[in-house]
Amino acid sequence: MHRLYSLALGAVTAALTLTASSACADGLARQPYLQRVGPETATVAFRLDAPCVPTVLYGTNGSTDQTAQSADTGRNHAVVLAGLQPGTEYTYLVDACGARTNPVRFSTAPVPGTRNVHFTAVGDFGMNNADQRSVATAMLGRKPDLFVMLGDNAYSSGTETEIQNNLFAPMAPLLSQVPFFATPGNHEYVTNQAQPYFDNLYLPTSPSGGERYYSFDWGHIHFVSLDSNCAIGLASSDRCSLAAQKKWVEQDLAASTAPWKIVFFHHPPWSSGEHGSQLLMRREFSPLFEKYGVDLVLNGHDHHYERMYPMQGNDVAASSTQSPTYLVVGSGGASLRRFDNGKPSWTVLRNDADHGYLDVKVEEGTLTAQMLTPSGKVIDSFSLSKDLPPLEQRPDGTPDAEQPADPTPAPQPGSSTDGTGTGLPSTPGTPDTSSEDGDLGEPQPEVAGCSAGPVMALLPAGAVLLAGALRRRRRR
Ligand SMILES: [Fe+2]
Repeated sequence: MHRLYSLALGAVTAALTLTASSACADGLARQPYLQRVGPETATVAFRLDAPCVPTVLYGTNGSTDQTAQSADTGRNHAVVLAGLQPGTEYTYLVDACGARTNPVRFSTAPVPGTRNVHFTAVGDFGMNNADQRSVATAMLGRKPDLFVMLGDNAYSSGTETEIQNNLFAPMAPLLSQVPFFATPGNHEYVTNQAQPYFDNLYLPTSPSGGERYYSFDWGHIHFVSLDSNCAIGLASSDRCSLAAQKKWVEQDLAASTAPWKIVFFHHPPWSSGEHGSQLLMRREFSPLFEKYGVDLVLNGHDHHYERMYPMQGNDVAASSTQSPTYLVVGSGGASLRRFDNGKPSWTVLRNDADHGYLDVKVEEGTLTAQMLTPSGKVIDSFSLSKDLPPLEQRPDGTPDAEQPADPTPAPQPGSSTDGTGTGLPSTPGTPDTSSEDGDLGEPQPEVAGCSAGPVMALLPAGAVLLAGALRRRRRR
């Protein structure tokens, strides 16, 4: 072996060893996280150890041949990737201050109207503990298109430090590869009405609520995030009001033609747990959910899992009506709270023994949901179904996701759980445990982030240059 080559190889090896062992000690103080991901755009946010001008390198088919330079100064950066292809896997890395992260992958949202969406949801996780990390790791293993956070994302007060230590640090591998959309919990609201939380996240916005409440479409699902803290009076009137939020959400739901509508916020209109039902949320918003055909309402706040029957007003819906299904999924990491009362008549199933998360697949007119523990045990499983109009055919014979063949027969509001239109579960009170392993047969994605070892290791620019020089030398 040539002496120069030998010395250089030794230097590269030493550099790699060093950086792998101190991957999070320099370069990035906060690993990249994916925000405002849509069919043609994505924001890669991160925090540097020291100010410099970073660049995001990205591309398709495993390449990183495109670049986007940050327009920000200082340590916090949010780099917008524009002109992306819908439903396409991208590889990206961050090049900053002479170091770069190892590449990881994510996918853009599909063409609007695409009838195949997979997401996970959970709340009450921001603890920086083993339960939170195991739930996050399990969610990453499911490779969802997106992750919906249900509030109390950073205990106990949503401070700047807690947002870093209890949200971003323990969930870095997940958040670098799966776009997330969040709603604020009461714990985030403790500090300046969740202002640090909003300062660190890059969420969709609404005209009257900014990031506090907003909506977005992913495939054939219309998602709405409400700010229940604002609704129950925790926000000052100059920032958010119940009246403005109600007005906005009614207009938003009325305007949506998406066949599936899912609303999420922190305080549950229905819960038999410690906090119980948030009756103001039920009184003010449930009539709108019923009127505009919301299929699923996802909440946290109580630290357990609970599924209600489809509800209409203050009662279980009659079999002839189609009404929203309410879930409490507050088992993301905070200490579980035991039910100290009997199961109410409006509850299908509840669990206070396991941490876990909700995994939802919506294909065409069928929504299939599983409540899973990190080990893959199925706590609950149910489905909702509805008839959708067929899609128009493009000239090449493929379905046009944006164009129903006959838009006149609009999707029915609400949904049934067994395809019969009854609006009631096919097996009330009985979980479908036909897949006890939680359908975990899919290949596991690569694991990224500080805690995951070498995948996100930072490579010093000097080592990269040296490796390049070696490659050039060997070609001679
Ligand atoms: Fe809460």
